Amino acid sequence: MDGLLQEITSLEGRRFVVVSNRQPYAHVRHGGQVRAEKPPSGLTLALEPIVQATRGTWIAASSGDADAETVDRAGRVMAPPPGVEYTLRRIFLPPRLQQDFYTGFANSTLWPLCHIAYHQPRFEERWWKAYLQANQAFADAVADEIGGDPAVVFVQDFHLAVLPQLLRERCPQAIIAQFWHIPWPNPEAFRICPWRKEILRGMLGNDLLGFHLPYHCMNFLETVDRELQVRVDRESSAVVLGRSRTSVAAFPMSVDYHHIQTASGLPQARAEAARLRAEHSGGGQRQLVISVERLDYSKGIRERLEAIQRLFERHPQWKNKVVFVHIATPSRTTVRAYRDYAQTVDRTVARVNALYTHSGWIPIRALHIYVEPEKVWNWYQAADALIVSSLHDGMNLVAKEFVAAGRDDAVMLLSEFTGAARALKEAVPINPYATDAFADAIAHALAMSGDERRDRMRRLRWRVEHYDIGVWAREILRAIRQREFDVQDIALPVAGVHAGSQPRLAAAAAPRPARARRH
Ligand code: F6P
Repeated sequence: MDGLLQEITSLEGRRFVVVSNRQPYAHVRHGGQVRAEKPPSGLTLALEPIVQATRGTWIAASSGDADAETVDRAGRVMAPPPGVEYTLRRIFLPPRLQQDFYTGFANSTLWPLCHIAYHQPRFEERWWKAYLQANQAFADAVADEIGGDPAVVFVQDFHLAVLPQLLRERCPQAIIAQFWHIPWPNPEAFRICPWRKEILRGMLGNDLLGFHLPYHCMNFLETVDRELQVRVDRESSAVVLGRSRTSVAAFPMSVDYHHIQTASGLPQARAEAARLRAEHSGGGQRQLVISVERLDYSKGIRERLEAIQRLFERHPQWKNKVVFVHIATPSRTTVRAYRDYAQTVDRTVARVNALYTHSGWIPIRALHIYVEPEKVWNWYQAADALIVSSLHDGMNLVAKEFVAAGRDDAVMLLSEFTGAARALKEAVPINPYATDAFADAIAHALAMSGDERRDRMRRLRWRVEHYDIGVWAREILRAIRQREFDVQDIALPVAGVHAGSQPRLAAAAAPRPARARRH
C-alpha cells in the first residue's frame, strides 16, 4: 500500500468519500451483546484499507439490527471498532423501500441483467422507483456530508447507478468516480431494460467510470453509443455529452496481498490450518479441495456439484481420495431465487453424497455459514486445491486471496468466465457449463505433480503481488487526478508571450470551476 499513500497526497486536502450500499461492518446483537461484524463482501474487504489510509468517510446503508443505536443523529458511528480510522456514516432506508431497492431492483433486475448466468431479470416499475428514491437518499447523505468542501466521491457498484448524476447536480465542486464491480453486458443483453437510458445517463454523471476489464468498458461504450445521443471518443475511451466528459477505463481489482499473506502465515493461523487439513483430509490420506463464495446462482455451485459427480463416474480412482468442502455463505436471502437456489444446492449435495459415501468417507461437506475473512484464509492454507466455478463474475477476489494465502503446492481451478481468469493464467481453466471437461480438469489438477503446482503458484503469486489492491487504488486515484487536469482550462505558457499573461497553474490545486460548465 506504500505507493497508495503517495497518491493520496495528490488529493490535496480534498475529502475522500466512499459510497456503497454494503457497509464495511454492521452492529449485530447477540443475546445481550452488540458486536461489529464484517459482511461476506469482496468489495468492502478490498476497499477498507483504502478508506483507512485516506482516513476518509464511508457512506453505506444500514444492515445490522443494532446499527441504529451505535450512531449519532447524522448516522455516523460513534465508537468505531478498534483500529478503524475512517468515519462510517449509515443511511437508514425504510424497510419497504430497502426491500424494493435492494431485493427488487438491485438483485432481481440489475444483477441478473449484468451477469449472463441465464437467470431472467425482472422489471417492476415499483422497484425502479424505489431504486431512484434510494439513490436520492444516498445523494442527500453525501451532499450533507461534504457540504461545499472540495471532495472526491468514490461511488461503488450497481446499487448506485443514478447517484453520480444526482451528485453532479447537488455537489458541483466534487470529483465523482464510480467503480462497477460486476460485469457490463453487451448492448443486446442490456437493451431489454426499460430504464436503460436513465441508468446510462445516471452513470454519465461520473468524471471517471471504472470496470474490471477492457471488455466491460467496450461493452459500456457500445451500449451508450447505441442508446444515447452522445459522442463516444474511442481513442481516449470517453463519453462526451455536451461539455461534460466521462472517462471510462479498466482497473482490474485485487486484494491486499501482503496483509493476507502475513496474516495467514502467523503461527496461530498455521496451526489452525493444519488442524483443518488433518480433520478434512483423513489425516493426509485424501486431498482437500475447497470452494468459497456467497450462495449465489452466478457462482456455478450446482454446476460444480454436477462436475464432482461426473468426476467419480469418469475417474473412479478418485473415490475415497478426495474431499470437497464447500463454504457458501447464505446471501440475499430476501430474494426468492437465492432461497430456491440454496435448496437446489442442498438437494444436489445430498444426492451426490448418497451415491458415493462409503465406509466413513463423505465426498462433499457443505458449510452454509458465514466464515470471517481471517478464518477463510486458514481454509486456503489448509487446502490442496480451490475451485472457482462462477458462470460469470466481474473479477472474483476469492481466486486472488487464495493465491495470497494458499499453500505453495496448491492448485487452482478457475472459471474462464471470471475477470480474474484474464490475469491468473497459471490456474487450470474450466468451463462450468461443460460438465465432462470440468470433471476431467478436476482429475487433471488432482493428479498434478508437486513441482508443477509449485511452479504455477510461484507465478500466480508474482502476478497478484505486483497488482494488488494498492496498485488498483493508486491507478484509480491517478486517473482521477489526470482526468481533473485534462478538463481544466489552463492557459499554458507559450514561448514569446508577454510576461503579463500568467498561466493559471494555481487552478490545479483549487476546486474546479469547470463543474459549473457541465450539463
Ligand atoms: O461485488 C458485487 C457485490 O454485489 C458487492 O456490491 C457486494 O457487497 C457483494 O457483492 C455482496 O453482496 P451483498 O452486498 O448484496 O451482500
